[in-house]
Amino acid sequence: MSFDPLNILTERVRHAIAGAFPSNAGADPMVTVSRNLKLGDFQCNAAMALAKAVSLPPREVATALVAKLNADETFLRLASPLAPGAIAGPGFINITLRPDALPAMLDALGMSNLGMPAPASGPIVVVDLCGVNLAKQMHVGHLRSTVIGDTLARILDRTGCRVIRQNHVGDWGLPIAMVTARLMDMDAAGKIDLQTLTLDGLDKAYKAAQRECDADEKGLAAATKWHMGPKVIAELEAHVDGASTKYEDAKRVLRQLQAREPSVMRVWQRISDVTMTQCLAIAARLNSIVTSEHSAGESSYAEELAPLVDQLIALGITEVSEGALVIRVDDAGISEPLIIRKSDGAFLYATTDMAAIRRRVQTFGASRVVYCVDARQGLHFKQVFAGAERAGFTKLPTGERATLEHAAFGTILGEDGRPFKTRTGESVKLSDLISNAEASAMDVLNAESPDIAPADRPAIARAVSIAALRYADLSTERIKDYVFSAQRMMSFKGNTGPYLLYAYVRMCSIFRKAGERNLLDPAGPQRGTAGFTLNIIEPAEKTLALAILRYPSAVNESARTLEPSRLCAYTYELATAFSQFFDACPVITADDEATRRSRLRLCELTRQVLHDALETLGIQTLERM
Ligand code: ARG
Repeated sequence: MSFDPLNILTERVRHAIAGAFPSNAGADPMVTVSRNLKLGDFQCNAAMALAKAVSLPPREVATALVAKLNADETFLRLASPLAPGAIAGPGFINITLRPDALPAMLDALGMSNLGMPAPASGPIVVVDLCGVNLAKQMHVGHLRSTVIGDTLARILDRTGCRVIRQNHVGDWGLPIAMVTARLMDMDAAGKIDLQTLTLDGLDKAYKAAQRECDADEKGLAAATKWHMGPKVIAELEAHVDGASTKYEDAKRVLRQLQAREPSVMRVWQRISDVTMTQCLAIAARLNSIVTSEHSAGESSYAEELAPLVDQLIALGITEVSEGALVIRVDDAGISEPLIIRKSDGAFLYATTDMAAIRRRVQTFGASRVVYCVDARQGLHFKQVFAGAERAGFTKLPTGERATLEHAAFGTILGEDGRPFKTRTGESVKLSDLISNAEASAMDVLNAESPDIAPADRPAIARAVSIAALRYADLSTERIKDYVFSAQRMMSFKGNTGPYLLYAYVRMCSIFRKAGERNLLDPAGPQRGTAGFTLNIIEPAEKTLALAILRYPSAVNESARTLEPSRLCAYTYELATAFSQFFDACPVITADDEATRRSRLRLCELTRQVLHDALETLGIQTLERM
């Protein structure tokens, strides 16, 4: 059911066109909100384009549409009957809502979960989010997979889907074996204490292990070619030798990991615990719902890979290419085949993703799987999706086909327009980024909110900083890169998280004042306004009412397109409409009681929608700031 008059009128005009001009049934209804509310609330411009198609004068087309609309009961429940004067100029149709239409729809929205379906009443959807890697610090890239992924999960949840979050942790394979091998050596030599290991320590061990294993074969070749002297060559040879022993070590540990040997698993488990404790703590700080119950790391698929590859061979969709086993995906327009087993017998990132699709669709029953992962993995997902399609893994137990979507996001840039780095050129640790944001929110609060008690400030600063970080990440189209500007995102003015929180706080303060003056029904629900009658008269009231009614379409559109930026844009529009209403229409000091009550009710509905929208964006609201 739609609450949005614009949607409903568009549908009615579509219906009228189909009735009056059946051969042009698909024509665009072209209904918009009127620029000049004196002429009408909405305007339909379809007659002009249709006139050309049906070779009739536009006014005649408009007259035919008006006749159909005036006979349409659904239309007449919402709009006043169209008088001959409703057709203006060459054939514009001006539509005016019935005076009781907006109040009735607002009340219906307020009584019906804001126009959204009941929780967990819809299809099963998997959202792949966060995706950290063991032994590595979370960096700015993970901000996006954690914040956008969580928001997509919240949006889908709000549209009634049963959402299953999956954190596809990079916790298996040779790189993990390398760092495990190194830690086992260091542990044996008494150089580290596994019990007190930190993520920083792990991160260093990871980098060292990679350096050790990364044989400088190219350097050696160059040194020999340029006759760099026996000393340099001998040094490089020793390095390559050392590297290959380390490499062999890592391969041995990988085999032991795959056999789940307790001595190796003990160290691996420690690495996993240290990384995941930090990861889940950061997700919680970001107000993203990612817990251990959502962890489904690569290791959880390890035992499925060999049988999966056998299944693919049995299906007859694999080929051997240069010793590797591949699936061709040319049919999907991708020339590089999907490699599922390397020539040395090892499985790859893609093999695990094939197993993940099979589990998500066929075991969990998801009809939609959404991957919130960096755009640079676009080719990988194209290949894997096409491979899964060929393998029949997208077929649900019901026989329907699941859709797989890569909700790709762009890169966070520094103010210099290059990928965001620290001054020394390292990637920015996510925990530092959050702490810095909290500190600058504290500065803003100290400057702008002197009346907040100092003891209350840290919690408010935390909420404001997360609102700023999340909103900045969510409000641009996700595929675009964006420049990280702590100062801009923290501002109380403009299209920012703090501005929206502030709009919410203003609404709360209206109700505090109204409560102090006994203007509310103290026993009544919805902040004591549920029994108040709405009267939508002033243009600013109308604009605000229409914005409120657009909420369900905004959430549904965001869910369909997997674009949190649409819900952000909606939320900003709602806050702006409220601010214009509040400037133009006195609430507490309204001329008469009926007007005051109606406006209080309108404020309350706005507050509810804003609260719901912010919560859906993962932004925790505040009563004061
Ligand atoms: N760990 C991966 C990385 O850091 C991200 C995982 C994304 N999810 C997936 N199903 N591949 O690149």
